[in-house]
Amino acid sequence: MCGIIGYVGNRDVVPVLLGGLKKLEYRGYDSAGIAVVNGQGVDVVRAEGKLTNLENKLAEHELKGTFGMGHTRWATHGKPNENNAHPHRDCTGDIVVIHNGIIENFLPLKQQLQKQGHKFTTETDTEVVAHLIEEKMKGGSKFVEAVRASLKELDGHYALVMINAKEPGTIIAAKQGPPLVLGLGDGENIVASDVAPLLAYTRDIIYLEDGEYAIANDKKVDVFSQDDKPVNREPKRILWDAVMAEKEGYRHYMLKEIHEQARAVRDTFNGRMFEESGEIYFNDLQFTPEEWAKFQRVHIVACGTSWHSALVGKFLLEEAARIPIEVDYGSEYRYRNPIVDENTLVIGVTQSGETADTIAGMQEAKKKGARLITICNVIGSAATRMSDGIIYTNAGPEIGVASTKAFTTQLVAFYLLALYVRQLRGENKDDIRYAMHELSVIPHKIETLLKQEKHIEQLANKYHRAQDFLFLGRGVHYPIALEGALKMKEISYIHAEGYPAGEMKHGPIALIDENLPVVAVATHTPVYDKVVSNLQETKARDGKLIVICDEGDEEMKKFADDVIEIPWTIEPLQPILAVIPQQLLAYYIALRRGCDVDQPRNLAKSVTVE
Ligand code: AGP
Repeated sequence: MCGIIGYVGNRDVVPVLLGGLKKLEYRGYDSAGIAVVNGQGVDVVRAEGKLTNLENKLAEHELKGTFGMGHTRWATHGKPNENNAHPHRDCTGDIVVIHNGIIENFLPLKQQLQKQGHKFTTETDTEVVAHLIEEKMKGGSKFVEAVRASLKELDGHYALVMINAKEPGTIIAAKQGPPLVLGLGDGENIVASDVAPLLAYTRDIIYLEDGEYAIANDKKVDVFSQDDKPVNREPKRILWDAVMAEKEGYRHYMLKEIHEQARAVRDTFNGRMFEESGEIYFNDLQFTPEEWAKFQRVHIVACGTSWHSALVGKFLLEEAARIPIEVDYGSEYRYRNPIVDENTLVIGVTQSGETADTIAGMQEAKKKGARLITICNVIGSAATRMSDGIIYTNAGPEIGVASTKAFTTQLVAFYLLALYVRQLRGENKDDIRYAMHELSVIPHKIETLLKQEKHIEQLANKYHRAQDFLFLGRGVHYPIALEGALKMKEISYIHAEGYPAGEMKHGPIALIDENLPVVAVATHTPVYDKVVSNLQETKARDGKLIVICDEGDEEMKKFADDVIEIPWTIEPLQPILAVIPQQLLAYYIALRRGCDVDQPRNLAKSVTVE
């Protein structure tokens, strides 16, 4: 995610842009920049790192004007440095663009534009848009027409704001995926990634829908549909306070991030398969079939929630690679003198890319000659800088201490990696294409599943007084039971344990009584019948059974105390759906218990010390 803002009106635009970027910094903060149109053209100032670096630069290089745009970056394409910081410009420097999202077909467009003589100066996908508009204007189109024609050639997800220094006072904003809202002021109009930056100037907001674009000046905002027809969109009156606005109306970042998972999952798989050939590829990770064939073992090193995604990754990768896969906590791996050599692949899984134990485990592996890759959510973090290859989860900044969207996007990363391995091993392309199709509909299934939020909140009201919880799952769902237990522990402070369902009879069943809620994942997998008998043993001892099952599983409704039905999907993708009810259950129980959901006691978002 990135934060974008554009302003046209009568105020000194630099404070408007900087103030807005401050409210958007939670969306991304690895570099930032602003563009201001003055009498003589457009001035652009950019800086790597936090927003304060840009402010310091602007203190020495004052910009004056009442029309401009700003951007705070969460890099997806191109390292987070000043040169790749937005805004980006065309060859003339007059057309200026800022962007949130991924232009999936930027490579072929860039090659075409380079053939037409355009000189690119950055590694970003965004720069393509500025040159594409320029090329259309060279062909005789006016700025607005050139933008209209260019938008029709873009594939992918984008929120774009575009201006032309030769036509000061006109801002064009286009939305396809990531959010874009317009604030309607008096003699001024403002566009931004979300509501927070707008509230200082207006409460009358227009939300752009996918495929739409808006043309704004200081007097009016016109909205158009994908086929260039005017759209009559009534403004909404926003009554949020500024803090609520940063959470887009959600009470906590954690709840907002739970609801962002459809977008985050989509942004993690988007642009990772060539449509025509069905080939899986990663920008920052390449193996040849020969290189892959050399690996005799894989070690996955992680902590906490990332360790749970690593356990799911083991299932997916072992199935695909048919070589031994070990999963270990960073804090254990770093001291156990693991058996590692140049034929070992080590994968460090870490949302922050800075977890001390995971980094130390990765360093240990590197020292022993392993090939090292990382699945990480933060570009430029320590884990990415030390790795030979990287799979980025494009979840966007995760602010809530309890990890949610980072976890589900890690599961997507492992799913893609397993397909990539199948591809390297020469597996049937149709099977890989089918597997990608099943992944492509997961965002929609997440949105469907989230419609049960009220039902899950009611379950939270029913069970929030429990002193203990047990979470059960088998096979690929055992790690999901562990993750559900961790969510419950870390935000509601209720003691909770995750167990393989088949392990109950070896001791834990002694815990079962009418005061112990048992949350079980019982979707249709090859061990479904085994899980059913485990749950009947639990029920026979008066355990309170909350079962996460497939939609329409009438069998489960017969003996569970409560069920949460989730959409059907293939077994390797079920964990992505099965974990979400557990995230919501923990959230609403924590809420009922008056806990600090976003900053739970004793915890930090990233444990950068041993
Ligand atoms: C999960 O909800 C916790 N916040 C914690 O377990 C976290 O997953 C762990 O500290 C690892 O963090 P990382 O993914 O940034 O390495």
